[in-house]
Amino acid sequence: MNKRSFIKNAAFTGIGATVGMDALAALFESKLGVSGEVLASDEQFWKTIRKQYLLKPDYINLENGYYNFVPQPLLEKFIAHVKEVNYQGSFYMRNYAVENKKRVTSKLAALMGCSAEEIAITRNTTESLDIVIAGKHWEKGDETIMAEQDYGSIIEMLKHVGSRYGVINKMVSVPNHPKSDEEIVALYENAITPKTKLILVSHIINITGQILPIRKICDMAHAKGVEVCVDGAHAVAHFKFNITDLNCDYYGASLHKWLSTPLGAGLLYVKKEKMPGIEPLIVGWEKEPYKILRISHTGTHPSHTDLTIEDSIDYYNMIGAERKESRLRFIQEYWTSKVRTVPRIIINTPVESHRACGIANVGIEGIKPGELAKRLLDEHRVYTVAIDGPNVFGCRITPNVYTTTDELDQFVKALKTLAS
Ligand SMILES: Cc1ncc(COP(=O)(O)O)c(C=O)c1O
Repeated sequence: MNKRSFIKNAAFTGIGATVGMDALAALFESKLGVSGEVLASDEQFWKTIRKQYLLKPDYINLENGYYNFVPQPLLEKFIAHVKEVNYQGSFYMRNYAVENKKRVTSKLAALMGCSAEEIAITRNTTESLDIVIAGKHWEKGDETIMAEQDYGSIIEMLKHVGSRYGVINKMVSVPNHPKSDEEIVALYENAITPKTKLILVSHIINITGQILPIRKICDMAHAKGVEVCVDGAHAVAHFKFNITDLNCDYYGASLHKWLSTPLGAGLLYVKKEKMPGIEPLIVGWEKEPYKILRISHTGTHPSHTDLTIEDSIDYYNMIGAERKESRLRFIQEYWTSKVRTVPRIIINTPVESHRACGIANVGIEGIKPGELAKRLLDEHRVYTVAIDGPNVFGCRITPNVYTTTDELDQFVKALKTLAS
């Protein structure tokens, strides 16, 4: 669906008037052909998109990383799907649910640049990565490598298989300001032994926003016969990439983060030749070893969420992947560049543009992360989340496409006040 048809469709459901869809249509018309880089600093353009969000007036929300709540046109579509599935009941589930999910999966595959046979809709990153980690055939003495900056519960799953099967987990620590891609690749490479079976690596480290050189890590690992499982929780619909280009073996992500689907949607990618090597966590009817459905069966689940994934992809495409990435990077660099050299302020996110996008992390010397988050909220009405280690001490800052530079100016002022 292109911009026009999404807007027409949304207007048809009667939501155009309440969320400014006509204004949005006119805006897109006027910006045809303007590059993402140029549009990134066009506040008027992004303020029109901001109007599609129902924002709480209580605080400036710089914690969109947990859940990128849904803009109003998508919320209306979600509610319509809930009503329709509820109206049709079993008839919908028996006659349409499977076919519709297949169509949405194909659309997701097109978005992610992989084959529809290699991708499945799941409930979230946790489920996707745990399917892989728990489903692999582990033997006593096998080794894995992960970073202490990876997501906590995924590390826990590796520890769990560690204690269950006698797998040895090795932990590396990713520097907040790496000198080069090679430094990061070497970090993982140096931890590999002949026993290493799997590397878990974050596409973007959630607590700092650092983007890792996944392709280089995968190429290095494959040359040594090691598989790579990528945690892409924050990467999908945040910055543009193609799963096939990453050359990873497994990829998991949450769609309720940057794709802004309603809560409870994720994706799992498994390279076709790797599928037979995974045992299903939940067993369904599919037995063919090269069918991803064999390992991604869930039983009955909210089908209306599957349907909204399609709308969320349309919405994302309407804004434009390049435009969104450029805007998110612009706003991150907008505020970080104003405080990077301020005494006592520490930015825990690399300065190079290709090593970060919308997410960054800031600390203040002498103020504990929890206290910083509390004071930002209580004294300056800025909502963030505190990160207290490992090797990262500060608040994670995740703006969204609706965040304005005025809001970021207020945030910068708050940081300078707290640091002074
Ligand atoms: C890097 C990373 N991995 C995994 C997860 C888990 O995501 P979910 O709870 O959607 O499964 C998160 C959540 O914030 C995350 O940041």
